[in-house]
Amino acid sequence: MCGIVGYIGENKKAVPFLLQGLEKLEYRGYDSSGIAVLNQNEIKIVKKQGRLKVIKDILGSKDDLHSNLGIGHTRWATHGDPSDVNAHPHLSKSGKIAVVHNGIIENYINLKKTLSKKGYEFKSDTDTEVVAQLLDSLYEGNMLGTIKKATDLLEGSFALGIICTDYPDTLFAVKKDSPLIIGVGEDENFIASDIPAVLSKTRKICRLKEKQIAVLTSKNIDIFDFSGGKAKMEISEINWNVDAAEKNNYDHFMIKEIMEQPKVLNDTISPRLKDYSIKLDNLNFTEEYLKNLNKISIVACGSAYHVGCVAKYFMEELIRKPVEVELASEFRYRSPIVDKNTLVIIISQSGETADSLAALREAKKLGARVLSVVNVVGSSIANESDDVLYTWAGPEIAVATTKAYSTQLSLMYLIALYISKVLGTITDEKYKNLIENIKLLPEKITGILKKASSTEEIAKKYYQTEKIFFIGRTLDYAVCMEGSLKLKEISYIHSEAYAAGELKHGTISLIDNKTLVIALATQDKLFDKTISNIREVKSRGATILLITTEDKADKISDIADDVIYIPKISNILSPSLAVIPMQLLSYYIAKFRGCDIDKPRNLAKSVTVE
Ligand code: F6R
Repeated sequence: MCGIVGYIGENKKAVPFLLQGLEKLEYRGYDSSGIAVLNQNEIKIVKKQGRLKVIKDILGSKDDLHSNLGIGHTRWATHGDPSDVNAHPHLSKSGKIAVVHNGIIENYINLKKTLSKKGYEFKSDTDTEVVAQLLDSLYEGNMLGTIKKATDLLEGSFALGIICTDYPDTLFAVKKDSPLIIGVGEDENFIASDIPAVLSKTRKICRLKEKQIAVLTSKNIDIFDFSGGKAKMEISEINWNVDAAEKNNYDHFMIKEIMEQPKVLNDTISPRLKDYSIKLDNLNFTEEYLKNLNKISIVACGSAYHVGCVAKYFMEELIRKPVEVELASEFRYRSPIVDKNTLVIIISQSGETADSLAALREAKKLGARVLSVVNVVGSSIANESDDVLYTWAGPEIAVATTKAYSTQLSLMYLIALYISKVLGTITDEKYKNLIENIKLLPEKITGILKKASSTEEIAKKYYQTEKIFFIGRTLDYAVCMEGSLKLKEISYIHSEAYAAGELKHGTISLIDNKTLVIALATQDKLFDKTISNIREVKSRGATILLITTEDKADKISDIADDVIYIPKISNILSPSLAVIPMQLLSYYIAKFRGCDIDKPRNLAKSVTVE
């Protein structure tokens, strides 16, 4: 949520970098944007409601903003409407200090009251303006000292970029519970919420740790902790290509990322499989530890939670231990029954999701061992977990996740097989068969993607439908949840995922001849049951799009108006294939509806506020 950037250099190149960096961060929020630069001893701010293009157009016509120092922001509104006045940066009363912020200042109302008594007036409805005025009120000529004092008074989450007129050669940055990286350049240094923003300038990155303050000049970077001690700067070299964060020739990041799935699945699976043995990086679960487990708790948000919903089915089948799946935003506030004999698995693409991070901390407090499945290396969730397994999906830019979901799911299969092998709850034959089938996933997904144009044709037929149900049983039902979310978030069509057997307990009253039912039937044992449920909705007027496996072709007769076939694979693994046509369908439906696919309304990629 919200993207921040900052620049300090020697060649008056702040503005071009800020705009270019913000462009790469627009996926984090895009309802308004702004920059502040130091120019002739004065802070000049340009900020506007709307996409980044609005301020780009304004800046294109201004030639007085050459500067060595600046900060920028792209916003996802939390406090106050998207508007010019609520856009960041926010300037302090004295005009000396400007601030950009990602996160939420939880005690901003109290701080506002105290500051108001001291004569501070507030122009915006934001929590961030309070930070600017607080710094102003504490400032006595030493900016680092002032920031330290302010961090004692601020509650909540905050990544901050700060500039001050008394420090024309210095950029300040602060991190607590929201991500912030430093890009180390030559005669110039950068800050940003995420790596793609600085990648065209440098591959040397330092991820600020919790409760750290960075003081950057063009030639030097010092890092301090909130108590004032100097901290060591750990620099890592980014080895992925800038291309990975570019659209290349695709119309949207989403379709590019859908098409990348065979490769990233292979990158995630194959280094961990040697013949029939699974090596999960440095993870070492002893038989004794696993035997003593009372349950596994999977905790996540959104699509990552949906991965957990699929995993519950196959983990319980393979491991024979109870597996709970819970939304992180619920888990963190409900006194969960978790102890040292619970394995908590946190799934997160960004590794920064506020609720998932809070759930992780809660689980550790209760004594559980926490394993995280994360895409962003070195992110907060990865850093704070006892064990971490990375999905090698590469940077995911489209707000709607696709390749991260698929790689997370593939890792969950490996984890389940690994544990069931150690526990001896799986036969050798089944274990080997599943490994062989897992190795086939990238190739089978390639086969589905090659036929994307036929899914596009189906999307063309149905894109104006306003009421859609996704139905399926067990694993198919869990995949339907993801299919429905994908469609909702990018096409704005209301849809619901329903357990096929549950419809008749009330919801079937919504079915009429304007309803499209997308039925998923891949599970051999349940195929006939799902077909019966399809008949029930068909006889009430619904149009049916069936997704099933190729081997079922002769069993379908005239039940469906359209059918998408996916290749046959072990039943347990079919979610990895079934989700692909659902992603494609959502993408093409949204495209036909003219939606802003990579940046759907009201959403942001990385949800760093609760
Ligand atoms: C939906 C989507 C979100 C995320 C959720 C969790 O397409 O991307 O539902 O899955 O916000 O985010 P991470 O995985 O970063 O914790």
